Amino acid sequence: MEQFTAHQTGRRAVLGGSLAVGTGVVLTACGGGNKTQPVPEPTGTPTKATTTADLKVGASASVAVQGNNYLLWRKDENTVYAYTAVCTHQGCTVGLGKTDFKCPCHGSEFSHEDGSRVAGPAKKPLTRYAAAIDGTDVMIYL
Ligand code: FES
Repeated sequence: MEQFTAHQTGRRAVLGGSLAVGTGVVLTACGGGNKTQPVPEPTGTPTKATTTADLKVGASASVAVQGNNYLLWRKDENTVYAYTAVCTHQGCTVGLGKTDFKCPCHGSEFSHEDGSRVAGPAKKPLTRYAAAIDGTDVMIYL
């Protein structure tokens, strides 16, 4: 596990996907390629992506886990959301933007709330992964 960067984007955060059970679906407010994206079930192997010390509430981070890049956003104390960092436009590695995730190649931007595209040429949202906070570890289900 390697951690690249993290930055503060808000005050409170959450453990996303996996603990957002019951919601089942995340809605998006934008059109043009944004689709509702179901919150993935926490299947697969929980894999440590970072620690809560390195992903504060309201912060996002870009991490590499098992050779692949992922984007994290800690919504509140107990909730974190995880997405692939592979851009749905032409496959560049999406990074951290000022408020959302941003692709450096052609400028697509994606919401940290649900991975939906909020700007740029990408047509689809970032693929979402179940994630959880386990003690002081931030886990992605891979
Ligand atoms: S590859 Fe990401 S915007 Fe084009």
